[in-house]
Amino acid sequence: MCGIVGYVGHSAGRVNTGHNALDVVLEGLRRLEYRGYDSAGIAVVADGTISSRKKSGKLSNLVAELEASPLPESLTGIGHTRWATHGGPTDQNAHPHLSDGDRLAVIHNGIIENFAELKQELLRKGVTFRSETDTEVAAALLGDIYRNQLKGDASNGGLTKAMQLACQRLEGAFTLLAVHADQPDVVVAARRNSPLVVGLGDGENFLGSDVSGFIDYTRRAVELGQDQIVTITADTVEITDFYGTPAEGKEYHVNWDPASAEKGGFPSFMEKEIHDQPDAVLQTLLGRSDVNGKLTLDELRVDPELLKSVDKIIVLACGTSAYAGQVAKYAIEHWCRIPTEVELSHEFRYRDPIVDQNTLIVSISQSGETMDTLMAVRYAKEQGAKTVSICNTNGSTIPRESDAVLYTHAGPEIAVASTKAFLAQITAAYLLGLYLAQLRGNKFQGEIKDVLADLNKIPAKIQQILDNEAQIKELGQAMADAKSVLFLGRHVGFPVAMEGALKLKELAYIHAEGFAAGELKHGPIALIEEGQPVFVVVPSPRGRDSLHAKVVSNIQEVRARGAKTIVIAEEGDEAVKAYAEHVFYIPETPTLLAPLLSTVPLQIFALALASAKGYDVDQPRNLAKSVTVE
Ligand code: F6R
Repeated sequence: MCGIVGYVGHSAGRVNTGHNALDVVLEGLRRLEYRGYDSAGIAVVADGTISSRKKSGKLSNLVAELEASPLPESLTGIGHTRWATHGGPTDQNAHPHLSDGDRLAVIHNGIIENFAELKQELLRKGVTFRSETDTEVAAALLGDIYRNQLKGDASNGGLTKAMQLACQRLEGAFTLLAVHADQPDVVVAARRNSPLVVGLGDGENFLGSDVSGFIDYTRRAVELGQDQIVTITADTVEITDFYGTPAEGKEYHVNWDPASAEKGGFPSFMEKEIHDQPDAVLQTLLGRSDVNGKLTLDELRVDPELLKSVDKIIVLACGTSAYAGQVAKYAIEHWCRIPTEVELSHEFRYRDPIVDQNTLIVSISQSGETMDTLMAVRYAKEQGAKTVSICNTNGSTIPRESDAVLYTHAGPEIAVASTKAFLAQITAAYLLGLYLAQLRGNKFQGEIKDVLADLNKIPAKIQQILDNEAQIKELGQAMADAKSVLFLGRHVGFPVAMEGALKLKELAYIHAEGFAAGELKHGPIALIEEGQPVFVVVPSPRGRDSLHAKVVSNIQEVRARGAKTIVIAEEGDEAVKAYAEHVFYIPETPTLLAPLLSTVPLQIFALALASAKGYDVDQPRNLAKSVTVE
């Protein structure tokens, strides 16, 4: 939530990069806009003053403002794209916020929880405020400390010292970036429970909420720890804790290139990412098993003996990632016979869950920064649980704080609504389940090899669905006026139904619900009236028990009450045709793996319907990609 960029460039005697801070910061904001798009703003230090522009709405509004009223050339700048928390999405509440006679500019991601009491204290000192934000309070506190406590003396530690003292007083979660006209070659930043990475250039350095903030300029990044402050100049990066004790950051190489974060000829990032899915699954499978079908998850640095002693698994996640967790539950319980619960991170954190050293926590997060999940993982660790993170973002906080990580290799996911990360998460969770089964001897090696062989066929099958997307796109366009759509599924089809509904809610802003098909008769069937569209995810007729027959009965129940049924079924399932207005066939695959296929038509449907309504599918209203507040 909120995208943050900082830049100091072009030091004397080094490579002349020729970068104007405005260009670097704007480019970074363009790439980070998926983190929030309620407003955008920028501040540069030039000619001994701070110059800033800010505008409510998308980044394009700020760009128009900058064209009308350009900023001076500069080597030092900060920029922000906002997801509103305190105060509405207005020009006044947009960042940067200024203090110390407008010589200090601050941008912020997170929530300052004690802002009200700090504000009262500053008001008593005669400080005036121009916005409703907690950020302006942090800016004012920083300005007050710099001017009144440190006497504006840059030799006394200047802005870095002021930031340390301010952070000692701030509560909550925050990334703060500050520039001061007195120190034109410096950006100072702080982080507590909110993301921030440093980019290392040659004669220039960068800050970003994530590496996409500077990926056009460098792939050398430095991870920061909790409660750290970093001061960058063009040539130096100095890290301390909030009390000035020096600290080390961990450097790493960013292994994706800027082109992978471009639309690649598709009209939207979301459409491109849907089409990335065969590769996302493939990359997540690659290198994780040997020719004999033996899983080699070397990155899982948890002692195998500990994994053998696990007697309960709790999957923690939010939103789409939680639906991936629900799919994982079916597979893990089936393969490993370990009781597996799936819980929304924010619900887990604030009850009194039963967790001990034999509990394995599996967190699932695309961003690795979701605050609800981070807090839940920390809480579980405090109770003695072992923690494994399934994550798509290298170096992010949740994997860093977990005992082990299994990275999904979906590549950068830019569209706010998750697609390829979901399939990659499910794939990684399957690998984890199979690995546990292998370790604990629940499955013969040959059985594991067979499942892996089926998994390896999935990318080509997803591609087959994508090659035939026209039919489902047409339906999405034709249903642009739908007021409500229901989704039904059983077994692993149930989380798929919920994911299909979530995609439609967040992209097309229409009422959509996913139900367990068997639950319908316990209440929700009352919603069915003439013409109500109902998607049904039908399991394979070759699958276990009478699952298929039960779902077919559920289709008949809703049709008898006037529903218009749209069925996702396996190729060759002729039986469903009689009960469906539309049938979309997916290739044959074992039931447990079917979510990797049945989700795809639902994603395409939501994309097509929302596009037909003229909505921005990459940046749906009210949302942000990375939810870094609780
Ligand atoms: C929906 C979506 C969200 C995220 C959720 C968790 O399309 O993207 O529901 O899945 O906010 O985010 P991560 O996976 O980053 O923890």
